Amino acid sequence: MAILLTGGAGYIGSHACVEFLDKGYDIIVVDNLVNSDKSVIDKIKTITGKDFKFYEVDIRDKEKLQGIFKENKVEAVIHFAGFKAVGESVLEPLKYYDNNIGGTISLLEAMKGSNVNKIVFSSSATVYGTPKTVPIREDFPLDAINPYGRTKLMIEKILKDLYNADKCWHIGVLRYFNPIGAHKSGIIGEKPQGIPNNLMPRVCDVALGKEKELTVWGNDYPTGDGTGVRDYIHVVDLAQGHIAAYEKILKKPGYYVYNLGTGKGYSVLEIIETFQRVNGVKIPYKFYPRRPGDVAKCYADPDKAREELGWEAKYTLEDMCKDAWNFVVKNMAQ
Ligand code: NAD
Ligand code: WQD
Repeated sequence: MAILLTGGAGYIGSHACVEFLDKGYDIIVVDNLVNSDKSVIDKIKTITGKDFKFYEVDIRDKEKLQGIFKENKVEAVIHFAGFKAVGESVLEPLKYYDNNIGGTISLLEAMKGSNVNKIVFSSSATVYGTPKTVPIREDFPLDAINPYGRTKLMIEKILKDLYNADKCWHIGVLRYFNPIGAHKSGIIGEKPQGIPNNLMPRVCDVALGKEKELTVWGNDYPTGDGTGVRDYIHVVDLAQGHIAAYEKILKKPGYYVYNLGTGKGYSVLEIIETFQRVNGVKIPYKFYPRRPGDVAKCYADPDKAREELGWEAKYTLEDMCKDAWNFVVKNMAQ
Protein backbone atom coordinates (compact mmCIF):
# COMPACT_ATOMS: atom_id res chain seq x y z
CA MET A 1 0.00 0.00 0.00
CA ALA A 2 1.32 3.43 -0.91
CA ILE A 3 0.77 6.96 0.27
CA LEU A 4 -0.21 9.29 -2.55
CA LEU A 5 1.10 12.84 -2.34
CA THR A 6 -0.59 15.46 -4.50
CA GLY A 7 1.71 18.43 -5.16
CA GLY A 8 4.67 16.26 -4.15
CA ALA A 9 7.04 18.09 -6.51
CA GLY A 10 6.41 21.42 -4.75
CA TYR A 11 8.30 23.07 -1.92
CA ILE A 12 6.65 21.41 1.10
CA GLY A 13 5.52 18.29 -0.78
CA SER A 14 9.06 17.42 -1.94
CA HIS A 15 10.35 17.58 1.64
CA ALA A 16 7.44 15.41 2.77
CA CYS A 17 8.28 12.85 0.05
CA VAL A 18 11.82 12.62 1.43
CA GLU A 19 10.63 12.15 5.02
CA PHE A 20 8.03 9.50 4.11
CA LEU A 21 10.56 7.59 1.98
CA ASP A 22 13.23 7.85 4.69
CA LYS A 23 10.75 6.37 7.14
CA GLY A 24 10.21 3.37 4.86
CA TYR A 25 6.84 4.26 3.33
CA ASP A 26 6.05 3.63 -0.35
CA ILE A 27 4.85 6.75 -2.09
CA ILE A 28 3.22 7.89 -5.35
CA VAL A 29 3.41 11.51 -6.50
CA VAL A 30 0.78 13.32 -8.58
CA ASP A 31 1.71 16.84 -9.69
CA ASN A 32 0.95 18.82 -12.85
CA LEU A 33 4.20 20.83 -12.39
CA VAL A 34 2.35 24.14 -12.67
CA ASN A 35 4.58 25.53 -9.92
CA SER A 36 7.43 23.03 -9.84
CA ASP A 37 9.90 21.17 -11.98
CA LYS A 38 10.23 17.56 -13.05
CA SER A 39 13.87 17.58 -11.90
CA VAL A 40 12.62 17.70 -8.27
CA ILE A 41 11.36 14.14 -8.65
CA ASP A 42 14.88 12.92 -9.52
CA LYS A 43 16.31 14.98 -6.68
CA ILE A 44 14.01 13.27 -4.18
CA LYS A 45 15.23 9.92 -5.55
CA THR A 46 18.87 11.06 -5.25
CA ILE A 47 18.48 12.15 -1.62
CA THR A 48 16.65 9.02 -0.50
CA GLY A 49 18.12 6.41 -2.87
CA LYS A 50 14.53 5.18 -3.37
CA ASP A 51 12.29 4.92 -6.39
CA PHE A 52 8.58 5.74 -6.73
CA LYS A 53 5.91 6.39 -9.36
CA PHE A 54 5.34 9.93 -10.58
CA TYR A 55 2.26 11.02 -12.55
CA GLU A 56 2.32 14.38 -14.30
CA VAL A 57 -1.42 14.89 -13.92
CA ASP A 58 -3.73 17.73 -12.93
CA ILE A 59 -5.87 16.56 -10.02
CA ARG A 60 -8.87 18.26 -11.69
CA ASP A 61 -8.59 15.70 -14.51
CA LYS A 62 -11.08 13.28 -12.96
CA GLU A 63 -10.62 10.49 -15.47
CA LYS A 64 -6.84 10.37 -15.15
CA LEU A 65 -6.94 10.75 -11.39
CA GLN A 66 -9.46 7.95 -11.00
CA GLY A 67 -7.23 5.82 -13.24
CA ILE A 68 -4.31 6.37 -10.85
CA PHE A 69 -6.41 5.20 -7.90
CA LYS A 70 -7.55 2.11 -9.83
CA GLU A 71 -4.02 1.29 -10.98
CA ASN A 72 -2.41 1.49 -7.53
CA LYS A 73 -3.11 0.35 -3.99
CA VAL A 74 -3.44 3.67 -2.16
CA GLU A 75 -3.65 3.67 1.63
CA ALA A 76 -3.95 7.44 2.16
CA VAL A 77 -3.50 10.80 0.50
CA ILE A 78 -1.40 13.75 1.63
CA HIS A 79 -2.91 16.66 -0.24
CA PHE A 80 -0.56 19.59 -0.99
CA ALA A 81 -1.62 20.48 -4.56
CA GLY A 82 -3.01 23.98 -4.94
CA PHE A 83 -2.18 27.62 -5.57
CA LYS A 84 -0.85 29.66 -2.66
CA ALA A 85 -0.15 33.28 -3.61
CA VAL A 86 -2.38 35.60 -1.59
CA GLY A 87 -1.95 38.66 -3.87
CA GLU A 88 -2.68 36.67 -7.03
CA SER A 89 -5.79 35.18 -5.40
CA VAL A 90 -7.19 38.70 -4.94
CA LEU A 91 -6.63 39.48 -8.64
CA GLU A 92 -7.73 36.08 -9.95
CA PRO A 93 -10.15 34.56 -7.44
CA LEU A 94 -11.77 32.14 -9.90
CA LYS A 95 -8.41 30.61 -10.71
CA TYR A 96 -7.97 29.90 -6.98
CA TYR A 97 -11.48 28.59 -6.34
CA ASP A 98 -11.22 26.38 -9.40
CA ASN A 99 -7.84 24.88 -8.64
CA ASN A 100 -7.95 24.64 -4.87
CA ILE A 101 -11.58 23.73 -4.34
CA GLY A 102 -12.25 22.07 -7.71
CA GLY A 103 -9.03 20.08 -7.34
CA THR A 104 -9.92 18.93 -3.85
CA ILE A 105 -13.44 17.83 -4.83
CA SER A 106 -12.09 15.89 -7.79
CA LEU A 107 -9.56 14.25 -5.46
CA LEU A 108 -12.16 13.35 -2.82
CA GLU A 109 -14.42 11.84 -5.49
CA ALA A 110 -11.57 9.72 -6.83
CA MET A 111 -10.74 8.61 -3.29
CA LYS A 112 -14.37 7.72 -2.58
CA GLY A 113 -14.61 5.79 -5.84
CA SER A 114 -11.68 3.62 -4.77
CA ASN A 115 -12.58 3.32 -1.09
CA VAL A 116 -9.63 5.39 0.08
CA ASN A 117 -10.77 7.31 3.14
CA LYS A 118 -7.65 8.74 4.75
CA ILE A 119 -6.47 12.25 3.90
CA VAL A 120 -4.12 14.82 5.40
CA PHE A 121 -4.78 18.32 4.06
CA SER A 122 -2.45 21.34 3.83
CA SER A 123 -4.35 24.16 5.45
CA SER A 124 -2.85 27.39 6.68
CA ALA A 125 -2.75 29.73 9.65
CA THR A 126 -4.34 32.18 7.22
CA VAL A 127 -7.73 30.65 8.20
CA TYR A 128 -7.48 32.48 11.54
CA GLY A 129 -7.68 35.84 9.73
CA THR A 130 -6.74 38.57 12.19
CA PRO A 131 -6.44 36.78 15.53
CA LYS A 132 -7.48 38.76 18.61
CA THR A 133 -4.68 37.24 20.69
CA VAL A 134 -1.57 35.09 20.29
CA PRO A 135 -0.56 32.28 20.59
CA ILE A 136 -3.27 30.91 18.33
CA ARG A 137 -5.11 27.77 19.39
CA GLU A 138 -7.00 25.46 17.03
CA ASP A 139 -10.34 26.44 18.60
CA PHE A 140 -9.93 30.16 17.80
CA PRO A 141 -12.56 31.72 15.50
CA LEU A 142 -11.94 31.23 11.78
CA ASP A 143 -12.21 34.12 9.37
CA ALA A 144 -10.12 34.16 6.21
CA ILE A 145 -9.56 37.64 4.78
CA ASN A 146 -8.58 36.91 1.15
CA PRO A 147 -9.68 34.48 -1.58
CA TYR A 148 -6.70 32.17 -1.02
CA GLY A 149 -7.50 31.93 2.67
CA ARG A 150 -11.17 31.38 1.89
CA THR A 151 -10.30 28.41 -0.33
CA LYS A 152 -8.48 26.85 2.62
CA LEU A 153 -11.35 27.55 4.99
CA MET A 154 -13.93 26.22 2.52
CA ILE A 155 -11.92 23.04 2.01
CA GLU A 156 -11.76 22.56 5.78
CA LYS A 157 -15.57 22.87 5.85
CA ILE A 158 -15.99 20.45 2.94
CA LEU A 159 -13.82 17.92 4.76
CA LYS A 160 -15.80 18.38 7.97
CA ASP A 161 -19.10 17.90 6.09
CA LEU A 162 -17.70 14.78 4.50
CA TYR A 163 -16.81 13.36 7.90
CA ASN A 164 -20.20 14.31 9.35
CA ALA A 165 -21.92 12.50 6.48
CA ASP A 166 -19.76 9.40 6.71
CA LYS A 167 -17.91 8.71 9.94
CA CYS A 168 -15.59 6.22 8.23
CA TRP A 169 -13.29 9.02 7.03
CA HIS A 170 -9.94 9.69 8.67
CA ILE A 171 -9.22 13.37 8.05
CA GLY A 172 -6.26 15.42 9.26
CA VAL A 173 -6.20 19.18 8.71
CA LEU A 174 -2.80 20.78 9.27
CA ARG A 175 -2.64 24.54 9.66
CA TYR A 176 0.90 25.55 8.73
CA PHE A 177 2.45 28.72 10.03
CA ASN A 178 5.39 30.16 8.00
CA PRO A 179 7.50 27.41 6.43
CA ILE A 180 11.06 28.38 5.48
CA GLY A 181 14.43 26.64 5.13
CA ALA A 182 15.40 23.67 3.01
CA HIS A 183 16.69 20.11 3.18
CA LYS A 184 20.19 19.92 4.73
CA SER A 185 21.64 18.53 1.48
CA GLY A 186 20.79 21.76 -0.35
CA ILE A 187 19.36 19.60 -3.15
CA ILE A 188 15.71 20.60 -2.66
CA GLY A 189 14.27 23.83 -1.32
CA GLU A 190 12.01 26.73 -2.19
CA LYS A 191 12.30 28.04 -5.76
CA PRO A 192 9.61 30.66 -6.30
CA GLN A 193 8.68 31.47 -9.89
CA GLY A 194 8.90 35.20 -10.71
CA ILE A 195 9.33 37.84 -8.02
CA PRO A 196 8.69 36.32 -4.60
CA ASN A 197 6.37 37.88 -2.00
CA ASN A 198 7.33 35.95 1.10
CA LEU A 199 10.01 37.23 3.41
CA MET A 200 12.67 34.51 3.23
CA PRO A 201 12.88 34.28 -0.58
CA ARG A 202 13.14 38.08 -0.67
CA VAL A 203 15.90 38.09 1.92
CA CYS A 204 17.74 35.55 -0.24
CA ASP A 205 17.29 37.70 -3.37
CA VAL A 206 18.85 40.65 -1.55
CA ALA A 207 21.71 38.47 -0.28
CA LEU A 208 22.29 37.28 -3.87
CA GLY A 209 22.41 40.89 -5.06
CA LYS A 210 19.31 40.41 -7.26
CA GLU A 211 17.61 43.15 -5.21
CA LYS A 212 19.37 46.22 -3.81
CA GLU A 213 17.56 46.22 -0.48
CA LEU A 214 14.78 44.50 1.41
CA THR A 215 11.49 46.29 1.77
CA VAL A 216 10.37 45.95 5.39
CA TRP A 217 6.60 46.38 5.43
CA GLY A 218 5.84 48.45 8.51
CA ASN A 219 7.84 49.40 11.62
CA ASP A 220 4.97 50.74 13.68
CA TYR A 221 3.28 47.50 14.74
CA PRO A 222 2.66 46.89 18.45
CA THR A 223 5.58 44.41 18.59
CA GLY A 224 8.96 44.60 20.33
CA ASP A 225 10.74 46.39 17.46
CA GLY A 226 7.70 47.54 15.45
CA THR A 227 8.04 44.95 12.65
CA GLY A 228 5.67 42.03 12.02
CA VAL A 229 6.06 38.86 14.07
CA ARG A 230 5.57 35.36 12.60
CA ASP A 231 6.03 31.72 13.54
CA TYR A 232 8.70 30.53 11.09
CA ILE A 233 8.98 26.75 10.92
CA HIS A 234 11.69 24.66 9.24
CA VAL A 235 10.19 22.85 6.25
CA VAL A 236 11.74 19.55 7.41
CA ASP A 237 10.01 19.87 10.80
CA LEU A 238 6.80 20.60 8.92
CA ALA A 239 7.30 17.57 6.65
CA GLN A 240 7.83 15.34 9.69
CA GLY A 241 4.61 16.73 11.18
CA HIS A 242 2.80 15.07 8.25
CA ILE A 243 4.11 11.65 9.20
CA ALA A 244 3.00 12.18 12.80
CA ALA A 245 -0.43 13.33 11.60
CA TYR A 246 -0.78 10.44 9.15
CA GLU A 247 0.13 7.90 11.83
CA LYS A 248 -2.38 9.49 14.21
CA ILE A 249 -5.36 9.58 11.84
CA LEU A 250 -4.63 6.02 10.72
CA LYS A 251 -5.59 4.67 14.14
CA LYS A 252 -9.17 5.89 14.35
CA PRO A 253 -11.64 7.60 12.01
CA GLY A 254 -12.19 11.25 12.86
CA TYR A 255 -11.75 14.87 11.84
CA TYR A 256 -8.54 16.15 13.40
CA VAL A 257 -7.12 19.68 13.24
CA TYR A 258 -3.58 20.68 14.26
CA ASN A 259 -1.44 23.79 14.15
CA LEU A 260 2.04 23.10 12.81
CA GLY A 261 4.22 25.87 14.18
CA THR A 262 7.04 26.28 16.67
CA GLY A 263 5.13 28.46 19.13
CA LYS A 264 7.82 31.14 18.86
CA GLY A 265 7.38 34.46 17.09
CA TYR A 266 10.23 36.32 15.39
CA SER A 267 10.14 39.83 13.94
CA VAL A 268 11.31 40.81 10.47
CA LEU A 269 14.35 42.54 12.00
CA GLU A 270 15.20 39.37 13.97
CA ILE A 271 15.10 37.38 10.73
CA ILE A 272 17.40 39.87 9.02
CA GLU A 273 19.82 39.90 11.97
CA THR A 274 19.95 36.10 12.24
CA PHE A 275 20.33 35.61 8.48
CA GLN A 276 23.23 38.07 8.33
CA ARG A 277 24.96 36.58 11.38
CA VAL A 278 24.79 32.88 10.46
CA ASN A 279 25.51 33.34 6.77
CA GLY A 280 28.04 36.20 6.90
CA VAL A 281 26.13 38.29 4.34
CA LYS A 282 24.70 41.79 4.40
CA ILE A 283 20.96 42.50 4.02
CA PRO A 284 20.39 46.23 3.46
CA TYR A 285 16.78 47.15 4.22
CA LYS A 286 14.42 50.09 4.23
CA PHE A 287 11.16 50.64 6.10
CA TYR A 288 7.96 51.12 4.10
CA PRO A 289 4.33 51.51 5.24
CA ARG A 290 2.46 48.39 6.35
CA ARG A 291 1.46 45.88 3.66
CA PRO A 292 -2.36 45.74 3.37
CA GLY A 293 -3.83 42.63 4.99
CA ASP A 294 -0.82 41.94 7.25
CA VAL A 295 -1.36 41.23 10.94
CA ALA A 296 1.03 42.41 13.67
CA LYS A 297 1.64 39.05 15.30
CA CYS A 298 0.86 35.50 14.29
CA TYR A 299 2.24 32.48 16.11
CA ALA A 300 0.93 29.09 17.08
CA ASP A 301 0.08 27.40 20.29
CA PRO A 302 1.66 24.06 19.32
CA ASP A 303 0.50 22.15 22.44
CA LYS A 304 -2.24 20.12 20.76
CA ALA A 305 0.16 18.73 18.13
CA ARG A 306 2.73 17.96 20.82
CA GLU A 307 0.26 16.21 23.09
CA GLU A 308 -1.74 14.30 20.48
CA LEU A 309 0.81 13.72 17.72
CA GLY A 310 3.95 13.51 19.82
CA TRP A 311 5.45 15.96 17.35
CA GLU A 312 7.24 19.23 17.93
CA ALA A 313 9.49 21.42 15.83
CA LYS A 314 13.17 20.96 16.66
CA TYR A 315 15.07 23.21 14.25
CA THR A 316 16.12 26.71 15.34
CA LEU A 317 15.85 29.98 13.47
CA GLU A 318 19.62 29.73 12.87
CA ASP A 319 19.11 26.33 11.16
CA MET A 320 16.28 27.76 9.03
CA CYS A 321 18.38 30.72 7.84
CA LYS A 322 21.46 28.56 7.17
CA ASP A 323 19.57 25.89 5.27
CA ALA A 324 17.60 28.41 3.19
CA TRP A 325 20.83 30.13 2.12
CA ASN A 326 22.68 26.84 1.51
CA PHE A 327 19.97 25.83 -0.98
CA VAL A 328 20.02 29.21 -2.72
CA VAL A 329 23.83 29.26 -3.03
CA LYS A 330 23.82 25.73 -4.48
CA ASN A 331 20.94 26.30 -6.88
CA MET A 332 20.38 29.94 -7.70
CA ALA A 333 23.68 31.83 -7.49
CA GLN A 334 24.97 32.81 -10.96
P1 NAD B 1 4.13 24.78 -4.11
O1 NAD B 1 3.49 25.65 -5.10
O2 NAD B 1 5.61 24.74 -4.05
O3 NAD B 1 3.61 23.28 -4.26
C1 NAD B 1 2.31 22.97 -4.74
C2 NAD B 1 2.47 21.89 -5.79
O4 NAD B 1 1.18 21.54 -6.28
C3 NAD B 1 3.29 22.35 -7.00
O5 NAD B 1 4.28 21.38 -7.30
C4 NAD B 1 2.26 22.47 -8.14
O6 NAD B 1 2.83 22.18 -9.38
C5 NAD B 1 1.22 21.45 -7.69
N1 NAD B 1 -0.14 21.71 -8.17
C6 NAD B 1 -0.85 22.86 -8.10
N2 NAD B 1 -2.07 22.69 -8.64
C7 NAD B 1 -2.14 21.40 -9.05
C8 NAD B 1 -3.13 20.61 -9.68
N3 NAD B 1 -4.32 21.11 -10.02
N4 NAD B 1 -2.86 19.31 -9.96
C9 NAD B 1 -1.67 18.77 -9.63
N5 NAD B 1 -0.69 19.46 -9.04
C10 NAD B 1 -0.92 20.77 -8.75
O7 NAD B 1 3.52 25.18 -2.68
P2 NAD B 1 3.98 24.75 -1.23
O8 NAD B 1 4.59 25.93 -0.56
O9 NAD B 1 4.73 23.47 -1.29
O10 NAD B 1 2.55 24.53 -0.57
C11 NAD B 1 1.95 23.26 -0.51
C12 NAD B 1 0.58 23.39 0.11
O11 NAD B 1 0.71 23.97 1.41
C13 NAD B 1 -0.37 24.30 -0.65
O12 NAD B 1 -1.67 23.75 -0.59
C14 NAD B 1 -0.32 25.60 0.12
O13 NAD B 1 -1.51 26.33 0.00
C15 NAD B 1 -0.13 25.10 1.53
N6 NAD B 1 0.53 26.10 2.41
C16 NAD B 1 1.71 26.65 2.04
C17 NAD B 1 2.33 27.60 2.85
C18 NAD B 1 3.62 28.26 2.46
O14 NAD B 1 3.94 29.32 3.02
N7 NAD B 1 4.40 27.71 1.56
C19 NAD B 1 1.72 27.96 4.07
C20 NAD B 1 0.51 27.36 4.41
C21 NAD B 1 -0.08 26.42 3.57
C1 WQD C 1 6.21 37.60 6.82
C2 WQD C 1 6.53 38.94 7.46
C3 WQD C 1 5.63 40.83 6.26
C4 WQD C 1 8.11 40.35 2.69
C5 WQD C 1 1.98 34.42 3.88
C6 WQD C 1 0.55 34.10 3.56
C7 WQD C 1 0.08 32.94 4.37
C8 WQD C 1 1.02 31.74 4.26
C9 WQD C 1 2.45 32.11 4.44
C10 WQD C 1 0.17 30.16 2.67
C11 WQD C 1 5.35 39.93 7.47
C12 WQD C 1 7.15 40.87 6.25
C13 WQD C 1 7.54 40.17 3.93
C14 WQD C 1 8.91 41.50 2.46
C15 WQD C 1 8.50 42.19 4.71
N1 WQD C 1 0.94 31.11 2.98
N2 WQD C 1 7.73 41.08 4.92
N3 WQD C 1 9.08 42.37 3.50
O1 WQD C 1 2.32 37.26 5.20
O2 WQD C 1 2.94 35.89 7.26
O3 WQD C 1 2.07 34.75 5.26
O4 WQD C 1 2.79 33.26 3.62
O5 WQD C 1 -0.73 29.70 3.30
O6 WQD C 1 -1.20 32.64 3.92
O7 WQD C 1 -0.24 35.25 3.84
O8 WQD C 1 4.34 35.68 5.18
O9 WQD C 1 6.63 35.80 4.34
O10 WQD C 1 4.86 37.23 3.24
O11 WQD C 1 5.63 37.82 5.53
O12 WQD C 1 8.69 43.05 5.60
O13 WQD C 1 9.44 41.72 1.38
O14 WQD C 1 7.55 39.59 6.69
O15 WQD C 1 5.10 42.11 6.38
O16 WQD C 1 5.43 40.64 8.66
P1 WQD C 1 2.86 36.02 5.77
P2 WQD C 1 5.40 36.61 4.48
